[in-house]
Amino acid sequence: MKIFQTITEAQAFSNTRRQIGRRLALVPTMGALHEGHLRLVDEAFRHADEVLVSIFVNPTQFGPNEDFSRYPRTMEADLVALQARGVAGVFTPTVTEMYPPNDRTWVVVQGLDTHLCGPFRPGHFRGVTTVVARLFLACRPQVAVFGLKDAQQFLILRRMVHDLHFGIEMVGMETVREANGLAMSSRNRYLSEVEREKAGIFSKAVFLGRDLVAAGERRPDVVEKAMRDAMAAVEGVSVQYAEIVDTEQLQRPITILPGTEYLVAVAGFLGQTRLIDNQFVATGSSSPVLSSL
Ligand code: PAJ
Repeated sequence: MKIFQTITEAQAFSNTRRQIGRRLALVPTMGALHEGHLRLVDEAFRHADEVLVSIFVNPTQFGPNEDFSRYPRTMEADLVALQARGVAGVFTPTVTEMYPPNDRTWVVVQGLDTHLCGPFRPGHFRGVTTVVARLFLACRPQVAVFGLKDAQQFLILRRMVHDLHFGIEMVGMETVREANGLAMSSRNRYLSEVEREKAGIFSKAVFLGRDLVAAGERRPDVVEKAMRDAMAAVEGVSVQYAEIVDTEQLQRPITILPGTEYLVAVAGFLGQTRLIDNQFVATGSSSPVLSSL
């Protein structure tokens, strides 16, 4: 397994793979890897011959009061886990490699951040799109694999790849969960044992929302209230949002329509820790979940 820190090395690695006709997948991460990340690697092997993983805690996607400085960093264990999974290369750039002094270029996808996490994390998605565009240009993969746990992130990045003609196949993978339904996350390390148990409510809430829509509920506010009430009933949980949006514009529908794909999503704090969860739901059988752009 090759480990490299510079964009030049990443590009050279990718070029040599391309020249010998190998299809390359990139799995971008911020490290502190867990089984969810590693399953993305397994998925990547189903779409490519070789897998490259990036580990970079991206400062531009953290707000001033967010957890950038205390975000878990476990590089040694991460590298051991990636080696065991058969990864060909790991790109671990420094902050100045990704953002040199006098750097001025941002990549912004407009209009898909007016709901869900957007209003609560101003600038977050601009940081994500900017770093992922740079990671794509450094690693030049044919395929990139992301988790649908961060569904809004995936849909925004898919739009960016489409609009800028990156020519990269975007694969979204189902959320990997703990036994109680809690979506695996690097931030789960912040939770106490008791909080971990309570955190199962985030998944229960989105399953409830999904089931209501699947059962024919057509009023967005009824779906949202059911999710919000389920979460608020658990002591220590404060809800940021409980919403249903369509998966193209990421806007709240006036009425939930048949033959359309939606995302039900929640976010909130459990103690000091911010958690999110979501589920896709298609109304009617004609619309496959995550239809292409
Ligand atoms: P990070 O939170 O490290 O997540 C890296 C990838 O793993 C993302 O695509 C995320 O959706 C996926 N992932 C995390 N938990 C998962 C789970 N339980 N099941 C399935 N997939 C899961 O997301 C980021 O990093 C960053 O924003 C990044 C895209 C790397 C840009 O900095």
